[in-house]
Amino acid sequence: MDFPKEIFLKDYKKPDYLFDTVDLEFQLGSDETIVTSKIAVSPGNEAGTSSPLVLHGRDLKLLSIKVNGTELKSDKYTVDPRHLTILTPPAGVFNLEIVTEIYPQLNTSLEGLYRTTGNFCTQCEAEGFRKITYFQDRPDVMAKYTCRIEGDKTLYPVLLSNGNLIKQGDLEGGKHYALWEDPFKKPCYLFALVAGQYECREGSFVTCSGRKVTLRIWTPAEDLPKTSHAMYSLKEAMKWDEEVFGLEYDLDLFNIVVTPDFNMGAMENKSLNVFQSRLVLASPETATDGDYAAILGVIGHEYFHNWTGNRVTCRDWFQLTLKEGLTVFRDQEFSSDLGCRTVKRIADVSKLRSYQFPQDAGPMAHPIRPHSYIKMDNFYTVTVYEKGAEVVRMYKTLFGASGFRKGMDLYFQRHDGQAVTCEDFYSAMCDANNAQLPNFLQWYSQAGTPTVKVTSAYDASSQTFSLKFSQEVPPTPGQPMKEPMFIPVAVGLVDSTGKDMPLTSIYSDGILRTVSNDGQPIFTTVLQFNKKEEEFIFNNVPERPVPSLLRGYSAPIRLDSDLTESDLYFLLANDSDEFNRWEAGQVLARKLMLSLVADFQQQKTLALNPKFVDGLRAILRSTSLDKEFIAKAITLPGQGEIMDMMAVADPDAVHAVRTFIKKELASQLKDDLLAAATSNRSSEAYAFNHDNVARRALKNTCLAYLTSMNEPDVTELALKEYNSATNMTDQFAALAALSQNPGQVRDDALLDFYNKWKHDYLVVSKWFALQATLDIPGNVANVRKLLSHPAFDMRNPNKVYSLIGGFCGSPVSFHAKDGSGYKFLGEVVLQLDKINPQVASRMVSAFSRWRRYDETRQALAKAQLEMIISANGLSENVYEIASKSLA
Ligand code: PHE
Ligand code: ZN
Repeated sequence: MDFPKEIFLKDYKKPDYLFDTVDLEFQLGSDETIVTSKIAVSPGNEAGTSSPLVLHGRDLKLLSIKVNGTELKSDKYTVDPRHLTILTPPAGVFNLEIVTEIYPQLNTSLEGLYRTTGNFCTQCEAEGFRKITYFQDRPDVMAKYTCRIEGDKTLYPVLLSNGNLIKQGDLEGGKHYALWEDPFKKPCYLFALVAGQYECREGSFVTCSGRKVTLRIWTPAEDLPKTSHAMYSLKEAMKWDEEVFGLEYDLDLFNIVVTPDFNMGAMENKSLNVFQSRLVLASPETATDGDYAAILGVIGHEYFHNWTGNRVTCRDWFQLTLKEGLTVFRDQEFSSDLGCRTVKRIADVSKLRSYQFPQDAGPMAHPIRPHSYIKMDNFYTVTVYEKGAEVVRMYKTLFGASGFRKGMDLYFQRHDGQAVTCEDFYSAMCDANNAQLPNFLQWYSQAGTPTVKVTSAYDASSQTFSLKFSQEVPPTPGQPMKEPMFIPVAVGLVDSTGKDMPLTSIYSDGILRTVSNDGQPIFTTVLQFNKKEEEFIFNNVPERPVPSLLRGYSAPIRLDSDLTESDLYFLLANDSDEFNRWEAGQVLARKLMLSLVADFQQQKTLALNPKFVDGLRAILRSTSLDKEFIAKAITLPGQGEIMDMMAVADPDAVHAVRTFIKKELASQLKDDLLAAATSNRSSEAYAFNHDNVARRALKNTCLAYLTSMNEPDVTELALKEYNSATNMTDQFAALAALSQNPGQVRDDALLDFYNKWKHDYLVVSKWFALQATLDIPGNVANVRKLLSHPAFDMRNPNKVYSLIGGFCGSPVSFHAKDGSGYKFLGEVVLQLDKINPQVASRMVSAFSRWRRYDETRQALAKAQLEMIISANGLSENVYEIASKSLA
């Protein structure tokens, strides 16, 4: 390997040359594809007259280069494995024509142009365009594109690219062609080409200004019936973006293509989104409620990128969160508006805690805008995406929905058609709201989850209530010292009857701030905490309140408050902020789990606090709470979340404790769980709407609790549910419930399920994932066996994520104390790296937190990392993660 080069944000320079138009031509052959690229080049702002033009390129065979129509002599350019450099380009505007040959059928990396099940597909973000042709492959080079595709008409009846279809026709030799033109300037990472045998579901949408847009979802013919939910989701997304942000679609055609082999979830190429199958294809029989929700969210996400990402794009890859954080925030809001806001918020915060917090506390910790990278692919992370979305959400929390909208409007007004930075977004938000947010930009440059401590005091004589805050941002790699951050803390004060107190005035820094809004009482206020320490004093507080802190999870921090257990039970029962009701239960559950983990480690007998059982019983019995909320509220924090809070993570103890609590709750709440499991059955036809989803969620959560007891009557119930299920949500939930207990029943059910569904690769992926996460000792051997199962394919990322990714997420087998799980992953990573470095890199990340475990496990995991890093021909992707993990 050449020594991998680290790239730094601080080294950013504008491009020396601009590309105004790019005309591409693809001749799709059976073995090789010929790509001709004609570029109108002009000098960039800062170009010296004769600076060399450096183009990126990888795995390309150069056939010819012409400048202004004349073949360039070989002493006028240099080629190395990563670049083509034109040494002395002409001054002023000139035309460049480059012809390259590429081999899509050999491309298993799934970036650039590749073949999958006979069809051609591209993936260019982040730096895949350079595998198609030599180019200035960077997002601040924006050009207008045309794309002419030529290929065999029988093999590739459908030829698609970005923009509008200008011309098409037949050619000699059984070939045909299509010419596409995209009227919008774009960076090359948004370029796409698809060619092959597809059929489409067609729909249409009339925009707010009355334009009719044709919508097409392309899949192999047999999957067409499974695209109706995706089409529904797309139309809802288009409508929502108009209603909420005034953003209208800007072309007359919008295409979505489904591909089984894709590294990521989906890609927002201009007017030609590409999706991995599981995020489009759904039928009640084959997809779960979770799948339906994911499809809605991701179809929305990619569609929303048309404005946040495509019309306004990123200046450089360090700014990725500018488009991703914002677009995740937008898809979260979209899903909230179409479903249940609190439940969506709970799911998003759980995801943040389970995946992002650990990343932010480990060797790969990086700010939402990283300072450097070796491979950009490694920075498509939960930090850039999900923490990035939290940072965007803070603007909305501070400015309100209308202030946020004003900021968005100004952002588009200023930057439409440009490639910009995170500061540009920040400035638009602040300027539109005449606001200053001291220390807010720290969110973009400091890594690590801040911890905020709060202590409260009530003074009856002065009727004041004080909240004293202090914050600590932990050291992270390369950032030993941190500055204070701007942290919005949404607060309400709950009186002894459980009602919110009206908030009138608050002092901070000795300054009086009235809270009321036109004399209307306010029940939640957003404190702007932006120093190391600060005290806020509420006036006119007639009795000691219980503070409800960080309502709606108003900032991505760890909160450490002095609320007592009884305060928390009180909030669990009473808080008007439903999110914080859930949160109170979670705080209690986390405390409980941590103390039981300590008991377990000291070999004490485990016992469940009866108050906890009572608290959950009350929630379970509630007739007024949303059913999906109840399902979430009775679900314990994940094992990863608890391990993340321990000084030395102990997967065995955490697993044992979580299992213990589950079984104990199940037996103590058995009657209530049975009642909820049976009364929420339904014989109605499947529908994906909140009421039905919520009912199934509650029923299936209760079923999982009950089945964990492993008693004949509940096993019988789960089996009955499994056999009588009429949709995948119920069928899979029953299977998963049964799979908790080793034995014949489970083995039979798993086999039965496979035989039922072996014809459907998406369902088979679920089956892989379920088995990968089974917590039986020795499951490593089972998973290893599945690698050679006829349905498994190492070249298909979705299957790798299901089986290998699933396995890495299961504490018992992956962290098996004999090191067998680590050894297995080590072998798989090396094998995968030869096929697909991006996917291998995601898998190797499971090792990155090795220092969190006991010494035995540390040594075993470290040995695997060292083995990996010394392997020959390792990709930069895997090298970066492995070396940073060892550093
Ligand atoms: N930009 C895509 C998204 O979030 C993700 C992606 C990144 C897809 C890189 C492919 C490659 O919507
Ligand atoms: Zn995105």
